[in-house]
Amino acid sequence: MKAAVIHEYGDSTVFRQEDIAIPEPGATEVLVRVHYASVNPFDYKVRAGHMKDGMPLKFPAILGTDMIGTVEKAGSSVSKFKKGDLVFGKANFGSNGSYAEYALAKESNIAHAPKNMPEREAAGLPVAAGTAWSVLVEMTGVKKGQKILITGASGGVGIMAIQIAKTLGAYVIGTSSKANLRTLKAMGADEAIDYAEGDFSEKVSDVDILLDTVGGETLSKAYKIVKKGGKLISLTGPTDNAAADKYGIDAKYLSVPSDGKTMEELAKLADSGKLKVIIDRELPLEKISEAHALSESRKAKGKIIIKIQY
Ligand SMILES: NC(=O)c1ccc[n+]([C@@H]2O[C@H](COP(=O)([O-])OP(=O)(O)OC[C@H]3O[C@@H](n4cnc5c(N)ncnc54)[C@H](OP(=O)(O)O)[C@@H]3O)[C@@H](O)[C@H]2O)c1
Repeated sequence: MKAAVIHEYGDSTVFRQEDIAIPEPGATEVLVRVHYASVNPFDYKVRAGHMKDGMPLKFPAILGTDMIGTVEKAGSSVSKFKKGDLVFGKANFGSNGSYAEYALAKESNIAHAPKNMPEREAAGLPVAAGTAWSVLVEMTGVKKGQKILITGASGGVGIMAIQIAKTLGAYVIGTSSKANLRTLKAMGADEAIDYAEGDFSEKVSDVDILLDTVGGETLSKAYKIVKKGGKLISLTGPTDNAAADKYGIDAKYLSVPSDGKTMEELAKLADSGKLKVIIDRELPLEKISEAHALSESRKAKGKIIIKIQY
């Protein structure tokens, strides 16, 4: 099979296009013929070695988590999926990821794909929408009428978070550059704030939940916007306990482990027409370096999709 392989940590040019053996699924795994993959910032962080202490790679490695494709072979203990099923979800970390014609996934990390969403769009759901769903539904339990601020709202996670928060009945505010304000509104945001025009933290107050996907200065300005007793969730790094205490809020960094059950919920939402995927660009596997450079620029609007065998 064709695969984008890396033999060491490095920049976006470290990928090598290689012909390698198709992997064999273990008892609880499925082998998926990958139709489309998508790129997440997690992928470039792993590739660059930023995660090597907690999640070291064994080389040669095949990255890529998000995927949609057909089951080619199911392991002996797999009961939910059979050859030919169209599935989507998360490929195994590092060794047999989705930047290849075939990938391995645990049965517990995939679901049957949405029926009413084009495959290239559904490929962009697993990590981005899975994170937004897990944070807003499972971890914070957003309630009708609550006010939510999402920073980085035009990114992969942000676009999903706006839509999921709206289905939960929240009042949603997002931040983005000027060029993307209209997209935020089109996704259902009640207010869209240009982060480059003045200080966003002076324009919003008393939010119940703040989902920060940007980090750095944006995160440090976020504490004071959350109302007493409210929640601040950082997706990029640790939060500041002293700042959280000062404002009387619950602030934490979450590493979000969405799985096949979350994928089932996403498929239902996608099929009901309540979840749209914005695609910044679709590229072939041979252009994976370009896709990573775009992701790393932090300027992608929505998802970067990789077409593999479709
Ligand atoms: N902890 C976890 O479990 C978890 C899970 C998923 C993702 N994450 C992390 O969450 C972050 C976001 O992921 P993603 O997939 O949404 O990334 P992404 O798609 O690459 O996000 C790109 C977006 O970021 C926006 N942006 C950049 N700087 C900004 C700023 N100062 N203010 C507001 N928006 C800004 C850009 O908007 P403009 O072009 O409009 O500037 C662009 O649309 C990444 O660091 C990712 O690794 C963590």
